[in-house]
Formats: sequence, structure tokens, C-alpha cells
Amino acid sequence: MNYNSLQQQVPNKLITDIAKAIDGEFTAIQCYDVLSKQAPNKEIRDRILEIRSDEMRHFQIFSQIYFSLTRTKYTPKMNANCPTNYRSGILHAFKDEQETVDFYHDIAREANNPFIQQQFMQVSLDEQNHAVWFLYFMNQN
Ligand SMILES: [Fe+2]
Ligand SMILES: [Fe+2]
Repeated sequence: MNYNSLQQQVPNKLITDIAKAIDGEFTAIQCYDVLSKQAPNKEIRDRILEIRSDEMRHFQIFSQIYFSLTRTKYTPKMNANCPTNYRSGILHAFKDEQETVDFYHDIAREANNPFIQQQFMQVSLDEQNHAVWFLYFMNQN
């Protein structure tokens, strides 16, 4: 991967969207930690932790892209409170993953840079996969 050639003239909207994406990953990392502890069994808990490690990878990728574009390290912040119980956590996660797929497609479209486009398209495939898992958990019990 080459992050060094990304710095050109970058639209502000792209920067703020990537920052928003970083906040989303950051929030998911915290909330999936909470959710994994509320999981009803080991199978689901392990799956949530696997999803969480994907989010950590996404967080790294996006943070590096942000740095390449701005030469500044972004300080992430929570964009929402984590849901308080397992059922609402699963429902919230499902919706959030689905919305994130669309959002990352939008970023890929506006990026106008093949490397960034490719990263966001690839990550959005992970999010689609996560959404399917959360839908499956919703339909259990
Ligand atoms: Fe993610
Ligand atoms: Fe995800």
C-alpha cells in the first residue's frame, strides 16, 4: 500500500467525511466491546469480536489515509452513546452497518483517487458482511 502519493488538492468535504468515517469506526470499536460482553453465547461473542477487529483494521486504514491527505493526525471522538442492552445493540449495529455501506460508497465516489476509492470499496464489503451477521443475530431466539 502506498499512502505517500495521496496529497494533492483535496476537497474539504472529503476530509470531513473521512474524519466522520474514523469517528464511526472508533465508536463501533467501543460499542462492539460492550456488545460482546452482552452476547448470549460464545459463538455470537466470538463473531462480534471478529467484527470488532475488522473495525480496528478499518480505523487504521482510514487514519493513515487522513494523515496522508492532511499531514495531521486525526483525534477520533465518539459520535454516539453505545446502546445499553443486547437487543438494542444488535438492532443499532445492523442499521449502522447498512448505512455505513452507503456512506463509504459515497466517499469512494467523491474521492477521485483510485487508492482511496479502492480502500473504501473494500471496507464497505466488510460492513455489508457485518450487517448480514447482525441481521442473523436479530433473527435468533
Ligand atoms: Fe468498519
Ligand atoms: Fe462494520
